Amino acid sequence: MKKEYRIPLLSNVAVGSATHVLTFRSKEIAAAANPGQFVNVSSDLFLKRPFGVLDTDPEAGTFSIGVRRIGAGTGYICDAVPGTFFEVLGPLGNGFVFDQTKRIIAIGGGTGIFPLRFALKRARELGIPSLSLNGFRSKSDIILLSSFEEVADQVRISTDAGDFGTKGNVVNLLSELTKEEMKDAILMTVGPEIMMKNVAKWADGAGLFCQVSLEKRMACGIGACLVCVCKVKAEAEGEPFRHVRCCKEGPVFAASEVIW
Ligand SMILES: Cc1cc2nc3c(=O)[nH]c(=O)nc-3n(C[C@H](O)[C@H](O)[C@H](O)COP(=O)(O)OP(=O)(O)OC[C@H]3O[C@@H](n4cnc5c(N)ncnc54)[C@H](O)[C@@H]3O)c2cc1C
Ligand code: FES
Repeated sequence: MKKEYRIPLLSNVAVGSATHVLTFRSKEIAAAANPGQFVNVSSDLFLKRPFGVLDTDPEAGTFSIGVRRIGAGTGYICDAVPGTFFEVLGPLGNGFVFDQTKRIIAIGGGTGIFPLRFALKRARELGIPSLSLNGFRSKSDIILLSSFEEVADQVRISTDAGDFGTKGNVVNLLSELTKEEMKDAILMTVGPEIMMKNVAKWADGAGLFCQVSLEKRMACGIGACLVCVCKVKAEAEGEPFRHVRCCKEGPVFAASEVIW
């Protein structure tokens, strides 16, 4: 199935000091993308760059990504004006698993909040109750709060500086959950590796199933180059671990199988 498209940028909106939401026209990607999947986007560099899908509008034939400017590739994409054409490969990867009998607690940090916005929107469409927990450095770093409030039943924020929401990080937010809020919940988390590792540890202690989306450096995005290989546990197969391609078998994995 063809997955690479030459598509126009429709809008580019700054949502923070170094973060933009970009919307592209592609009826194919808008129709096919599921929460947790990503797209590989061209820039003026040789390799495309991976971004989680933030939102889709299948009726309008558009989809959005959130991009934080950190280097040359993201700089080119953040500076692009509407009308610029991009080569985009996607949707790629596996995506989150939804269980209609379980409530969702989505835990995000950094650019990890973008794919979780899409997951929360899908949960709402499926009639699954949801709670969004996002962590930021300080009040001035908070982005897309009203956008999360549109799709999640409840939104809670932590800030390291303590100037908004709970002081501390997302694990502090998790430790404030009531037994009722934890009952029949599954966790989905995307963010810096140390954050996901701590969320996974907390979930294990609480006996809750947790899915994590790993952000490895990627090149091809389609399972061909092995740049993104990581190890997961394989005790059921009689081995201590096996190698998986984060772009193909992931980026979403059960937290319990990840070797951090
Ligand atoms: C599956 C997946 C989904 C992603 N989703 C998003 C998203 O929704 N929004 C977003 O803004 N970013 C996302 N990223 C990260 C994004 O792809 C990188 O920031 C981007 O590729 C950097 O390109 P660059 O040319 O600007 O930076 P480069 O010049 O390539 O790198 C600049 C610096 O960032 C580091 N870096 C680059 N990529 C990564 C990475 N993947 N993990 C850790 N460190 C990295 C480099 O080591 C270097 O220090 C995602 C990554 C993956 C793998
Ligand atoms: S990025 Fe090439 S195999 Fe994953």
